[in-house]
Parts: sequence; structure tokens; C-alpha cells
Amino acid sequence: MNRTHTNGEFRLSHSGQTVTVLGWVAKRRNFGSIVFMDLRDRTGIVQCVFNEELTDKVKDVRSEYILKVTGVVLERKDKNPKLLTGEVEINVTDVTIINTSESTPIIIADETDALEDTRLRFRYLDLRRPMMQKKLMQRHAITKAMRNFLDDEGFIEVETPLLTKSTPEGSREYLVPSRVHTGEFYALAQSPQIFKQMLMIAGFERYYQVARCFRDEDLRSDRQLDFTQVDIEASFLSEVEFQSIMETMMVKVFKEVLGRDLPVPFRRIPFDEAMNRYGVDKPDIRYGLELNDVTSLFEASEFKVFSSVIERKGSIKALIVNDYASISRKEIDSLTELAKKYGAKGLVVVKLANGLIEGPAAKFLSETEKNALVTQLNLKENDLVLMVADEWEKACVAAGALRTYFRDALKLVSEDQFEFAWVVDFPLFEYDSEEDRLIARHHPFTRPKAEDAHLLDTVPLSVKACAYDLVLNGFEVAGGSLRIYDQQMQSKLFSLIGFTDEQIEKRFGFFVDAFKYGTPPHGGIAFGLDRLAMILTHSESLRDVIAFPKNASARCPLTDAPTPVEKKQLDELHLTVVK
Ligand code: AMO
Ligand code: AMP
Repeated sequence: MNRTHTNGEFRLSHSGQTVTVLGWVAKRRNFGSIVFMDLRDRTGIVQCVFNEELTDKVKDVRSEYILKVTGVVLERKDKNPKLLTGEVEINVTDVTIINTSESTPIIIADETDALEDTRLRFRYLDLRRPMMQKKLMQRHAITKAMRNFLDDEGFIEVETPLLTKSTPEGSREYLVPSRVHTGEFYALAQSPQIFKQMLMIAGFERYYQVARCFRDEDLRSDRQLDFTQVDIEASFLSEVEFQSIMETMMVKVFKEVLGRDLPVPFRRIPFDEAMNRYGVDKPDIRYGLELNDVTSLFEASEFKVFSSVIERKGSIKALIVNDYASISRKEIDSLTELAKKYGAKGLVVVKLANGLIEGPAAKFLSETEKNALVTQLNLKENDLVLMVADEWEKACVAAGALRTYFRDALKLVSEDQFEFAWVVDFPLFEYDSEEDRLIARHHPFTRPKAEDAHLLDTVPLSVKACAYDLVLNGFEVAGGSLRIYDQQMQSKLFSLIGFTDEQIEKRFGFFVDAFKYGTPPHGGIAFGLDRLAMILTHSESLRDVIAFPKNASARCPLTDAPTPVEKKQLDELHLTVVK
């Protein structure tokens, strides 16, 4: 179409040139015999001026019409410093209306008050907003930086099946009925995990894939049903060697996408320490406000809540908030609700006022305990102390939720601070009380720490794993582990999580079999690409960096999926829907 320039590139240096541009009408202003229009393409906006002889030709042009414009670039009299192209305008000599547009149901501008479902229903218009285009372009830049880096490091991209075998260990799967095999199902891949391990057995040594994954989960702002991993696996590397390559990749991404230098190596925080100090296994380390363990101060407590927890070898975790003693009753109630939402049974709230421990819960504490609190926690006048007593992990988690609350309430972080950390030394198992069995905390292919392997039969819950998460600003952006590469150990793991030999054979027989033929030591990781893009673009939700996401109730408002299907389709699949 003889386009000579993109709209965002015009500067004073273009003055005098005759140019042809294309784009959507972003704004139209009439000034008597002259009409101004801002013409937008994905690179930006340029102002076009239509003089008297052309105004008739464009009299019906409205917002979002597509025009082809030819004209001369001129220096503007009243410059617009807010616009990169604001020093010039195009004095139009010829115009063609390429297409018309109805008035749009949402305004095409960065600022919007449209409801999210409306934005998703008209996503193609929502994505026309410059800010959304920028986000998807930044996401592309992140993916590209990772691809280039991995290619340079000798990782090759291999695609693995999306339609695969159901292996119900992990999150809930989507099942796909087979038309040709009555009553049999594929599962949509939750991750390429098993296949990437097969590729290591096959001798590829270094693999990656920008992989779509499917998980039937309850949606949250950082979760989608179908999401993207940058999935990576390598052979013959130690945990630290592998992590160091991943750090270098993040350094590249931040340099290329945000122009920022990240300090390496990233901090390494053992799981136990993360829980103890931050109350979560994905700590936001941009700010302090660390948790305190006050269990030992209450060994002799007569307060039933504390003594019963101590009897059961639980913990009491305390959060100190400086200068917060004038907290309202209402805020205490909402903090208590928050702690309860995270599993606490209640919240003890005291404060140091006039040198004394006061507050609704002060009556539960003895003088000795109050004194110990003040001295051991180094309390200052007007400090607020929030305490949760429970099983160790629960107490940590609830206190950690309060820590996050104060991060936001006291605005302790700014959005252009980025702090990575590795969380390492995760427990291999956790106990599933509903099913009364051990389950793998990461997945059942994760290698136990060699020095803990002798505890597998006796105290499995104390066995640590060669598993690691990469955490950024309180989000888990990647998770991985070294894998088991020994057939006996793999079978043992399956049996410890409660699979019978028959079940192992049926579900994972093909996998265990493969280990017979020379399996290299290997390990890997998967980055949540959506999450990484969300954080780097300062977005509130994953949905802002996914072109066509599902809404919070797991629907696609654009296509209206999921929908009922024809009876004929169900018949072909040998299915009946029972309401
Ligand atoms: P994991 O299950 O930890 O590990 O997933 C890896 C990363 O993927 C992201 N993620 C999600 N992002 C959006 N929506 C979701 N529903 C969602 N679920 C996970 C997270 C997470 O850190 N196969 C292993 C990796 C390995 O061991 O190599 C795996 O899938 O950022
Ligand atoms: P109760 O004995 O249940 O009335 O609780 C007395 C006080 O202790 C209340 O302020 C509760 O919120 C608080 N509380 C109860 N259980 C816990 C717990 N596990 N950890 C911290 N505080 C608790």
C-alpha cells in the first residue's frame, strides 16, 4: 500500500518529507475549515491536518476508521511534549478511506473504566489500546530473549504432545475422549514433564520448549487454565550449575526488556528459613517486616491457646508493626479474619503503650511473658504485636499473610523494585490429610537429597528434595528439581506416595521402563511465562498479558466457551451428559 513510515517514528528530522502512512483514527477535532486527526498504528500516533480542499472528503470519518494518508511532514506551531511525535504533523495532500467503523463499545485509550468482561468480550478492541499492545510486545520480547539465550547455550526446542496419557498425580487434568477408542481418554498435558525426561534419556542433553500447559484449577489473578511455560531440562549439571545458567538468563531478559542490571548470584533461601522469616515459600524480600518466633517465651504459659499449641510441638509466630498501636477495632477484626482465611484459629493482638503491654489480649499473658516480649523483641513505644499460634507451617503461613497485608497497607515496596531469590531444600513430601497419605510436594520424579535418602522409610516427612523455586517479588515464577535417574529409587518414590506395584505399572510403567537403558543424571525447571510477563509489565493480573484469557469464572467472554455441544458430537464420542 506504498506506506513509507510507521506513525510513531516521526521527529523534527522528518520535516519536509512527503510520506504515506496508514492507521486508525484515534481522535478527530474540527476547527472550522481545518480538521485534525490523530492516526494510530501499533508504533504510535501522528497528527494529520486536513485543509479546506480535503475536509469534504473526510466529513464522515469517525474514530476507528482506517485511513491511508499522504502528505508533507511539517514542524508544529504548538508542540505536544507528551507525544513522541509531538513536534511535527502531516499536512495531508491525499487521503483514502480504507475502512469504516461503528462506534466502539469500549474507548480505545489506555485509561478505561470498562468492566473486565466487556473488555474480554471485545478483546480485539481492548487489545487495540496502546497499553495492551505494549504489554503483549513486552511479553514477546521476554520470550525472544529467553529463546535466544537458550539457543546460545545449546538448548534445542522440541515439541511434545498436548494430547497425552492421564497421570492423575498433580493438579486436575482436562480429559479428552477418544472417538476411535470407545471409553478411552487422552489428557491435556499439565506440563511436558515426562516427555522432557524422556528426551534426556534419549540423549539430547539440553532441551527447552515454549509449552502450553492445561490445568483444571480454580482461577486466581496469577493462574489460568491454559498457560505457558518456558520449560527446560538438562543433563549432567549440578543444582547450582543449572541455577546459575537460569540466573544468567534472567539477567539477559531484564537487560533486554527493561534495560536493567540484575545483581547475581540471587539469594538462596532454604524452605524452612523462608517459612520462618517470611511465612511463605515464595517470599517477597523487597522489604523487611520479618516474622519472629516467640514460642520459647511462652513455654510456661497458662493461656490455653498458647499452652495447647506448645504441648503439640507447634509454634507461635509474631509480627511487629512499628508505630501502629493506634490501630482501630475494625482493622483488628479484619486482620483476624485475614489470619483465619489463611488457616489460623485466631489472632492475639497487643501493643506497647506507655511502656506497658496492653490490648484486648494482654489479659491472657503473665507479667513475665509481657516483659520477655518487650525485651526479646526489642519493642518500642507504640509497636503493635500480632501473634498466631498453631502447627509450625500454619502459624508461619497466617503470620506471613499479615506481613503481606502490611506491605500493601504501609506501601513498603515500589513497583520498579525487582528482587529474585531461589527457595531451595524443599521437603520431598507433604502429608495429605484428606487422603491420609504422603504426596510429592513438587512431583514424584524429584530426587531426594542424597544425605536424606536413608530417612525415606523411617521419617519421610523430614526428607529434603533437590527441588528449587525461583521467586520474584513474592511470586513463584519458576519451579524445578533434579530428577531421580535410578529405576529402584523411582519405584520406591511411587510406592511411598501410596501406589501399588500394579498401579505403578499401569500408570507409569513406560516411564520406569525407560530408566533401564542408561538414564543420565538430569534436572530442569519451568518458568511461568505469563507470570514473568505480568510482573515485568507491572500488570495486576495474568489476564493482562494473555491475548485471549479466560475470566475469573473460567469462561472466554469472546467466544463464550465452554458451550454445550450437539448430541451428534457426543454420540460420536460415546458420551452422555448426566445433569
Ligand atoms: P510447576 O507446576 O511448578 O512445575 O509449574 C512451573 C511454573 O508454571 C507457572 N504456573 C502457572 N502459571 C499460570 N497459571 C497456572 N495455572 C500455573 N501453574 C503453574 C508457575 C510455576 O512456577 N514440570 C514442572 C517443572 C519442572 O519440574 O521442571 C512444573 O510444571 O510460575
Ligand atoms: P478464645 O480462647 O478462643 O476466646 O481466644 C482468645 C484470643 O486468642 C482471641 O483473641 C483469639 O483470636 C486468639 N486466638 C485463638 N486461637 C489462636 C491461635 N491459634 N493463635 C493466636 N491467637 C489465637
